[in-house]
Amino acid sequence: MPEGTDVFEIMHTMRAMRRLKPDPVPDELIRKILLAGQTAASGGNTQRWRFLVLKDPEVKKKVQVYYKKAFDEVVGPRYASSPPPPGSDAARYKRQHAAVEYLTDHYHEAPVWIVACLEDGPNPTRSAGSSIYPAVQNMLLAARALGLGSTLTTRHINYEKEVDAAMGIPPGFHSYAILPIGYPMGRFGPVGRGPLGDVVYLDGWGKPYPGI
Ligand SMILES: Cc1cc2nc3c(=O)[nH]c(=O)nc-3n(C[C@H](O)[C@H](O)[C@H](O)COP(=O)(O)O)c2cc1C
Repeated sequence: MPEGTDVFEIMHTMRAMRRLKPDPVPDELIRKILLAGQTAASGGNTQRWRFLVLKDPEVKKKVQVYYKKAFDEVVGPRYASSPPPPGSDAARYKRQHAAVEYLTDHYHEAPVWIVACLEDGPNPTRSAGSSIYPAVQNMLLAARALGLGSTLTTRHINYEKEVDAAMGIPPGFHSYAILPIGYPMGRFGPVGRGPLGDVVYLDGWGKPYPGI
């Protein structure tokens, strides 16, 4: 199998890549990522998605201001006061925090964003996102396969009205994720998660699955 196409290798090494080079990304690669998004499933195959590609520095900067505001108000304090998640440790969590802060400050400098939007009407239900996040994950996997870095980001939703207006998203549609994409400064590598057995049950809640 040619390098970069084994889906398991791609999934296991698809770290959140938050430090990105400003170098432009060829449209041909963006097209491949978008096609991967469009192949995803959606409820009833309704395909009510729109993918807004943003390169305009002014629009990205307007959104970054809210993204940073939400960091200062919510995310930064939460990182400072919460324990490392499963599969991490204090040092790794500190590095994650630093990377999150870096992306916050440089969000708008990613050469291209894909904003995943959905026509979800005025009162979206809890299940609405399930028709857009499969496309988002496909695009992240495609970017990784092409050697491009990205991260699923949703923090802008803290200021959804303001950022959707800044991005010109019309009524009836909402943004569900922003994927800042660029060539990564660092290397892809194994993701850290807790033991599988801690989160999988067999034939009853809390019962271990000895087969894994
Ligand atoms: C629903 C969702 C929202 C996220 N929002 C953000 C975000 O706004 N900013 C950010 O830097 N990372 C965001 N992330 C990325 C997670 O923080 C990341 O997946 C996690 O730190 C694990 O990173 P790793 O895959 O490199 O181990 C989000 C991930 C998910 C699934």
